[in-house]
Amino acid sequence: MPTVTYTQPDGTTKNIEVKVGQSIKDGAVNNLIPGILAECGGACACATCHIYIDDQWFGKVGPAEDIEKDMLDFAEDVKDNSRLSCQVDMSEDLNGLIVHVPENQ
Ligand code: FES
Repeated sequence: MPTVTYTQPDGTTKNIEVKVGQSIKDGAVNNLIPGILAECGGACACATCHIYIDDQWFGKVGPAEDIEKDMLDFAEDVKDNSRLSCQVDMSEDLNGLIVHVPENQ
């Protein structure tokens, strides 16, 4: 199964297996990764699943669609590599993906 590395603001990391087709949010919530609240359950309606895609991976993951961009307006400290983790689905291509959990949601 492909893995995702979740990096906390203090630099600690956890490697988690995420099934193809599950979201990066699912991988976090199912494994109790701190800092990803996902209050709306993945409906792109809360922005509390905000993450930063590691720079070396952003080209593969790609930017947000318009509806996600609108919701990102409600997230804190949004950067060019910001995404909502419920809107990024795991694929074999993303095996080894590194994401960074923000300081605040
Ligand atoms: Fe609510 Fe992603 S879980 S926007």
